[in-house]
Amino acid sequence: MTLVERYRAFVRGLSVNPVGRAGVVLTTSSFLTFLFMELLRLLGVLTNAYIGLITYLLLPALFVVGLALIPLGWWLYRKARARADRELLAERFSPDAVAPRPGGSRLFVTVAVFTLVNLLFLSVASMRMLTFMDTPVFCGTACHKVMHPEWATYQVSPHARVRCVDCHVGEGAGALVSSKLNGARQMFLAMFNAYERPVPTPVRQLRPARETCEKCHWPDKFYGYRQQVRVHYGMDRDSTPRYTTLNLKIDTGEAAGHAGIHWHVAEANAVRYASAEDEREEMLWVEVRQKDGTWRRFTRRGRPVTVAPEEWQRTLDCVDCHNRATHIYEEPDAAVDERLRRGLMDRSLPFVRREVLGALLPDYPDRDAAMAGIAARLEGAYSRLLPEMTATQRQALEKTITATQAVYNRNIHPLMAVRWGTYPSHLDHRRDGGCFRCHNQELVDATGAAVPHDCTLCHSFLAYDSARPYQFLDAPADDDPEAAMHRYLREEFIRQGE
Ligand code: HEC
Ligand code: HEC
Ligand code: HEC
Ligand code: HEC
Ligand code: HEC
Repeated sequence: MTLVERYRAFVRGLSVNPVGRAGVVLTTSSFLTFLFMELLRLLGVLTNAYIGLITYLLLPALFVVGLALIPLGWWLYRKARARADRELLAERFSPDAVAPRPGGSRLFVTVAVFTLVNLLFLSVASMRMLTFMDTPVFCGTACHKVMHPEWATYQVSPHARVRCVDCHVGEGAGALVSSKLNGARQMFLAMFNAYERPVPTPVRQLRPARETCEKCHWPDKFYGYRQQVRVHYGMDRDSTPRYTTLNLKIDTGEAAGHAGIHWHVAEANAVRYASAEDEREEMLWVEVRQKDGTWRRFTRRGRPVTVAPEEWQRTLDCVDCHNRATHIYEEPDAAVDERLRRGLMDRSLPFVRREVLGALLPDYPDRDAAMAGIAARLEGAYSRLLPEMTATQRQALEKTITATQAVYNRNIHPLMAVRWGTYPSHLDHRRDGGCFRCHNQELVDATGAAVPHDCTLCHSFLAYDSARPYQFLDAPADDDPEAAMHRYLREEFIRQGE
């Protein structure tokens, strides 16, 4: 038999047997659909995560099933033929005559060629699948409801252009495999609606920051000050602004000699801690590595030292402070201040801060109720406060309602039980959390010395709850604030250097 004949026999066999036929149809159609979907995606027509799931998971799966059906069909066909031949032979000759095998084993050449082509296709498809599964749009929207809070906050974060996997998976085959296994488990939980709401933190299986954050940021790079002008508006009629201006001492401190906030993550330093219940909120003890390699331990004043299980202990790294590096939830008052500052909420409306907070804080049962409730409350408030509303005021009100709804949508996710304060930030010291978990007078070493906590350890103030953003600059009121600030900073540096 020539190759062509053998090929024909193969095709005929497959087309006679229903299993083989199904296999051929499945393989060919999923292959062609895949090509078509890829084309649409390359043209930018398709971006949806579900279609991506179909293209990269379902189609290759169907393709493989089809491929498996083909040899099965061929085998069934040959068995049937052999049986038919045997029966024919038995009729004519002796019952124990053996039938010749149809086809011929050299058919393997054909099969081998096909297999090579198939393997090529499958490896391209799985490469595309892995790449696709690494895109934020997949991670953020494939299990839509579950990841909605993280996706919403991610898109407005400083890392909106950084892929989820750069922080959550990191590099290396091991990380890839474990993340895919974990992902499969989560998909399972999502399918059976068995996941926790809200998604619990801290995330314990996060890769060490050295392998993720430090690929893009590294400790040597932090030096000098970072200035933060915080504006807080009042509850009065004009929502009057008050300023607190901080110079955050973000230095790592290795080169400059004096230590700042990133001292903890400098190559030479290490801080360890054990927290009660492993929630990383309440510290049992904190340790600092000394130059000679020994550890200096701070424990809670007047409290017997409890032994912390090994897994509650941790070496402090980036995410102990930057736990909200990307999924940044706002506090309601700070969120409103921020929108007022940007003019998205309108200070020409009387008592706007008070009224907006009044509309934002109630516990609405779901998103629709919240959208309607926010609009109704603000409409109601201003029909009382401004009975004769001008067209400009009407516009200002509508703008403010839209901005208030947007604040709600960014921060509150009723389906995932994410509400105000569900995910507190550790980057400040509100309610004695964040830095004050360790920097407080309760944690003391053997000599009774506490972890330092004086108010200028981490920041100096250029203004403190003041009508002016640069209150402490020794400048006359009409001086150029920029110039005054630079003068101040110069003096501060001279003081620091002494
Ligand atoms: C810049 C790094 C970074 C990026 C990018 C990032 N994350 Fe995170 N994510 C974190 C850190 C850090 C935590 C850990 C918070 C903790 O342990 O308290 C976290 C926590 C989470 C959590 C747990 C819930 C929570 O808010 O703490 C989920 C779910 C999550 N991320 C999903 C995503 C998804 C989906 C994307 C992409 C759309 C993404 N992340 C992108 C850094 C990142
Ligand atoms: C793939 C690179 C990449 C990774 C990984 C990454 N970042 Fe970033 N990070 C960036 C970029 C880009 C910016 C934005 C810089 C800008 O806006 O000037 C940024 C900004 C920041 C900022 C400044 C935010 C602000 O208020 O301006 C912080 C803090 C930060 N990252 C912390 C982290 C932490 C913590 C991690 C690890 C969990 C991390 N980053 C991982 C690239 C990365
Ligand atoms: C002890 C707490 C702490 C640790 C640990 C920490 N940071 Fe920070 N980091 C801060 C604070 C506080 C700021 C200033 C925040 C602000 O401006 O609101 C900051 C600022 C930053 C900025 C912005 C710097 C700039 O020049 O504006 C980046 C980027 C950053 N951190 C990344 C990291 C990375 C990456 C790590 C781990 C290697 C890390 N941080 C470890 C507390 C910390
Ligand atoms: C897990 C505990 C812990 C947390 C959380 C923590 N620190 Fe620290 N920090 C320490 C310890 C311990 C020291 C070293 C104290 C010493 O050596 O006397 C230190 C030292 C410092 C120093 C100065 C070091 C020096 O030698 O002058 C600064 C500045 C600082 N921390 C800022 C912060 C800021 C800002 C935050 C919050 C964003 C923060 N720390 C969160 C434990 C912590
Ligand atoms: C261990 C470091 C550290 C110490 C000690 C510290 N702070 Fe802070 N403080 C911070 C950080 C970090 C922030 C957050 C900066 C930001 O929001 O960007 C902050 C923010 C603030 C703010 C601004 C809050 C706002 O939103 O307006 C005030 C006010 C403040 N601190 C006052 C104090 C006072 C008063 C003390 C002394 C009792 C003190 N701090 C001690 C680290 C520290």
